[in-house]
Amino acid sequence: MATPIRTAVVGGHRGGGYGRALQALSDQIALTAICDRDEDVIRSWQEGSPHLKGFSRYEELLASDACDAVLLATPMHLHAEQAIAALAAGKHVLSEVIAATTLEECWALVEAAERSPAVYMLAENYTYMRPNMMVRHMVERGVFGAVSYAEGAYIHDCRPLMFDTQDRLTWRGELGRGEPCNHYPTHSLGPVAQWLGCAGQNAPDRLAEVVCFVTPDRARRAYVLERYGETHPAAAPGFFNRGDSGCTLVRTNGGSVAYVRVDSSSPRPHNMTHYVLQGLKAAYLSARRKGEDPLIWIQGRSPGERIGAEEWESLWDYAAEYEHPRWRAKGAIAGEAGHGGGDYFIIEDFVDAVRNRTPPAVDVYDAAAWSSVFPLSLASAREGGRPQRIPDFRKRARRAMVVQIEPTDRTD
Ligand SMILES: NC(=O)c1ccc[n+]([C@@H]2O[C@H](COP(=O)([O-])OP(=O)(O)OC[C@H]3O[C@@H](n4cnc5c(N)ncnc54)[C@H](O)[C@@H]3O)[C@@H](O)[C@H]2O)c1
Repeated sequence: MATPIRTAVVGGHRGGGYGRALQALSDQIALTAICDRDEDVIRSWQEGSPHLKGFSRYEELLASDACDAVLLATPMHLHAEQAIAALAAGKHVLSEVIAATTLEECWALVEAAERSPAVYMLAENYTYMRPNMMVRHMVERGVFGAVSYAEGAYIHDCRPLMFDTQDRLTWRGELGRGEPCNHYPTHSLGPVAQWLGCAGQNAPDRLAEVVCFVTPDRARRAYVLERYGETHPAAAPGFFNRGDSGCTLVRTNGGSVAYVRVDSSSPRPHNMTHYVLQGLKAAYLSARRKGEDPLIWIQGRSPGERIGAEEWESLWDYAAEYEHPRWRAKGAIAGEAGHGGGDYFIIEDFVDAVRNRTPPAVDVYDAAAWSSVFPLSLASAREGGRPQRIPDFRKRARRAMVVQIEPTDRTD
């Protein structure tokens, strides 16, 4: 048996969420270091696991021999820069979402991954949720026929996370101050891009264009007024500006359309899944709340033969036939890890990519394309909804498969 991949968690809050998955796969991947700029976080990790090496400076971790791989779970504006540095140091990268927040970072990340012998993978855990994988399996088995329309939304009131325990603005609070856009696109777009055939190195289609409109930023201010009163600086009109609902349409090269929405500030209960898929032969609606079944309708199989008499069925009624094989095999273990099983399958796929050189489940090209919706939706909203082209980040790699790799070509 090969020695486990020595891994450092960077960012010890969300990084802790991978604990159960790392434990379950400990014969293949071993946690050897914790890096966090907060010494208290390092201490608390070392109390539970005294063997861990601790680093408060990321550069020192990269310069050390404490790990072969980094699991980046730092605030999201740091991901691209930290991933690029790790790849340059020859360390494999599993990066939390989103991968990058500007187009320049997206390109620099792609180029760093192409130059490095190390693996880069985006930890987009929503692509692994049981219903999302089952729908993907059904699409691949032809149940939906041609698919042309999908929806994905991340709707989660994260306002309590805008301030820390000492009432200082956190990175999430700062994020709410930027220009209006879809600031967190990958949870919603990831599964949808896979269903529409726009993900992976042999994808038949690709994401091509973005338009975006954003509703006014009201919910963040309402929260501050209620929690701190009107004398608080964050209660000033215009302090927050990102907008409440970032509503994006993404068109693919082949003409499919995805409606992708983010709302991390409006008050409402959280529902983890918010997806729709329409095909020529079937339609899918995700569950709206905990305890509710996701719904499917399949032409010729679901009840109701006349137009107007069709009936939705529970997706789970088809589990015996269409459960994703990985959920069938590992669902019991995966379900114990976080985020509806996603955190387990992510670690498993990362191990596979590093050990066996299989293509990473979400490679750097998909990571760049999905994350580019952040800056492109911002540009679109700023220009009154003007369409913005998504660069073909994979073009050069595709060409390199047939001809020798050329110097940097950022055109598409
Ligand atoms: N995939 C998911 O479902 C999911 C869930 C939660 C968070 N996330 C992502 O995980 C990331 C972290 O989120 P969080 O909620 O843990 O944030 P957080 O602010 O609670 O924790 C971030 C940690 O990173 C540390 N840190 C900050 N800068 C650092 C640096 N330069 N070097 C080393 N450590 C540094 C902080 O001290 C803190 O401990 C974000 O990108 C977020 O989007 C993803």
